[in-house]
Amino acid sequence: MGTGTRTPLVAGNWKMNGALRESRDLVAELAAGVGQGGRAEMLLCPPYVYLAAAARWLEATPIALGAQNLASEVDPGAFTGEVSGAMLADVGCAYVIVGHSERRTLYGETDEQVVAKFRAARTAGLGPILCVGETLEEREEGLTEAVVTRQVNAVLGTLGAGVLASAVVAYEPVWAIGTGRTASPDQAQEVHALIRGLIAAQDATIAAGLRILYGGSVNGGNAAELLAREDIDGGLVGGASLDASQFLTIFQAASG
Ligand code: 13P
Repeated sequence: MGTGTRTPLVAGNWKMNGALRESRDLVAELAAGVGQGGRAEMLLCPPYVYLAAAARWLEATPIALGAQNLASEVDPGAFTGEVSGAMLADVGCAYVIVGHSERRTLYGETDEQVVAKFRAARTAGLGPILCVGETLEEREEGLTEAVVTRQVNAVLGTLGAGVLASAVVAYEPVWAIGTGRTASPDQAQEVHALIRGLIAAQDATIAAGLRILYGGSVNGGNAAELLAREDIDGGLVGGASLDASQFLTIFQAASG
């Protein structure tokens, strides 16, 4: 696991899953299982409509709250269907996922929009979780490094390394998301080291403190070997975050 002072982060991305009661029960189980917390930090990212309720359920717990997306616009206005970073902060979010591959591929988010959302998150005082990762075709064509470099540099080049001080990066190979096919610890470590190196070239201190999460079919059975690697500082977990015992096992692996 990441060395030095980096606090491991285990984040659950619920995606478009759950219902009000089911979500409340899941949070209650996680809160009971997490106790007073551990060496790691736990974060839950429910759908927008459950955020305000989740903030109340999480009040007396060490578990943090985040959103899955935000508007690129900062000021309030005529943006039907959008939710601003300020609104997310207002209901108790500390983090927000930016540039998830599902947003990039299903909703056509470009690097430019991702940068705008990253900036909007920072303006609202939220910690952006910047997602990057290659598709299967890109990996097979040997383009992994080029794709991840382009996605990281979109933010670094426009906003500078300083903006990563309160941010998190998540490496999520698209071919590993929801497929049951996890990147091997070696494959993940290689890309995590690449990401840290890109940032270190601009600011070594920020790079050393940056948490880089792995995401893509993380579960209770494979978390420990992934988290054991030097540059893997936690997980961004989809499917397994909907199952309290799986998610707690991952959290314990990160806390150990
Ligand atoms: P799975 O854990 O379901 O593969 O999803 C990963 C993910 O996309 C988290 O953001």
